[in-house]
Amino acid sequence: MRVRGAVLRRMGLPKPYVDSRPLEIVDLELDPPRPGELLVRVGAAGLCHSDLSVIDGSRPRVMPMVLGHEAAGEVVGTGGDTPGFAEGDHVVLSFVPVCGACGPCRAGRAALCEPGAAANAAGSLLSGGRRWSEPGDGHQLHHHLGVSAFADHVVVAANSAVKVDPSLPAEIAALFGCAVLTGVGAAVNSAEVVEGDRVVVFGLGGVGLAALLGAKMAGAAEIVAVDMVEEKLEHARRLGATPIHAGEGVVEAVREATGGGGDKVIETVGNARVLAQAYEATRRGGTTVTVGLPHPEQRLDIQAVSLVTEERTLKGSYLGSCVPDRDIPKFVQAYQDGRLPVQELLTHRITLDEINLGFDRLAAGAAVRQAVIL
Ligand SMILES: NC(=O)c1ccc[n+]([C@@H]2O[C@H](COP(=O)([O-])OP(=O)(O)OC[C@H]3O[C@@H](n4cnc5c(N)ncnc54)[C@H](O)[C@@H]3O)[C@@H](O)[C@H]2O)c1
Ligand SMILES: [Zn+2]
Ligand SMILES: [Zn+2]
Repeated sequence: MRVRGAVLRRMGLPKPYVDSRPLEIVDLELDPPRPGELLVRVGAAGLCHSDLSVIDGSRPRVMPMVLGHEAAGEVVGTGGDTPGFAEGDHVVLSFVPVCGACGPCRAGRAALCEPGAAANAAGSLLSGGRRWSEPGDGHQLHHHLGVSAFADHVVVAANSAVKVDPSLPAEIAALFGCAVLTGVGAAVNSAEVVEGDRVVVFGLGGVGLAALLGAKMAGAAEIVAVDMVEEKLEHARRLGATPIHAGEGVVEAVREATGGGGDKVIETVGNARVLAQAYEATRRGGTTVTVGLPHPEQRLDIQAVSLVTEERTLKGSYLGSCVPDRDIPKFVQAYQDGRLPVQELLTHRITLDEINLGFDRLAAGAAVRQAVIL
């Protein structure tokens, strides 16, 4: 079938993107789903910094690629052999397809699914196949993280989809696919925030604000929020956090606000220098969780001995250490109960044609989550 989607052919084009137009909105050919796959009509798709990092070249991927990885929509076809899914189901798409059978999957660590990671690196679906092609010459295009959210229809592995309550608006449901899964998961699963914790969040984009909401839901006694953008700090303050401006002296300021550092400190910026600050702003015996995705060449510079003598923990968190099937329904329930107000993350609604402008906004720190309404 013919589909309209946003294709990235070349990484590293200059800003502003409204002029260089890295994402081309074009007609694409989408092959029907094969066994184990779903055809999904996308309702809404969110703009995440990980998409921006592919556009600017700091997270290199195989080109050309139909970009986007945070989406929700409705199943409008199946290729058969998709137990549990039928036409009419509403689904959230998750950015790691989970095979359910490999070592990490069997150990409950779906974020580390081995065939899922291999497919994502290859820009294919979990089966190894690709369903996108150029209408003219039939050249195949790559899938982004098994989702390729920026298109009106997509074919995905059923292993990338989680069924949700159809009453959930698509623009809210989409947030659960990346920002909420990653941020709330980082707080609840990776940092294991418990009642009474002093929590610090570095970076207040979609992922960081979701981590803040997750920490609040888990009963944190105090949340300190760090960013360099005034509006983000104000947003965090309205959500009950103590705002602190990033930059010189930030570590001392956080230590002072928390009486010696956070018990759990969550970094969601994607910069090794900020991760070092987050580590230093962690209390003795505390845990630093890193979520941001720095350029692969960056190295981390921290005092090695403090890991030992201060019994600190430094851990990475991919996909919020979530099992999508288990955690998306749990987080949706918390949203529906009013314990997790994820609508706070959504600052803009845009059309597919406005997507380059949307990425300029994200790069400038002028938006949290922007939903492309499809
Ligand atoms: N681990 C995962 O599974 C996963 C999933 C999604 C996104 N990510 C990564 O998480 C990061 C955040 O994603 P996002 O979509 O929320 O991005 P975003 O651009 O919306 O947010 C990043 C925030 O960091 C702030 N910031 C910049 N420099 C800072 C500094 N020195 N100190 C404090 N704050 C600073 C920005 O102002 C912005 O508010 C990105 O690196 C993204 O690639 C990781
Ligand atoms: Zn993302
Ligand atoms: Zn697996």
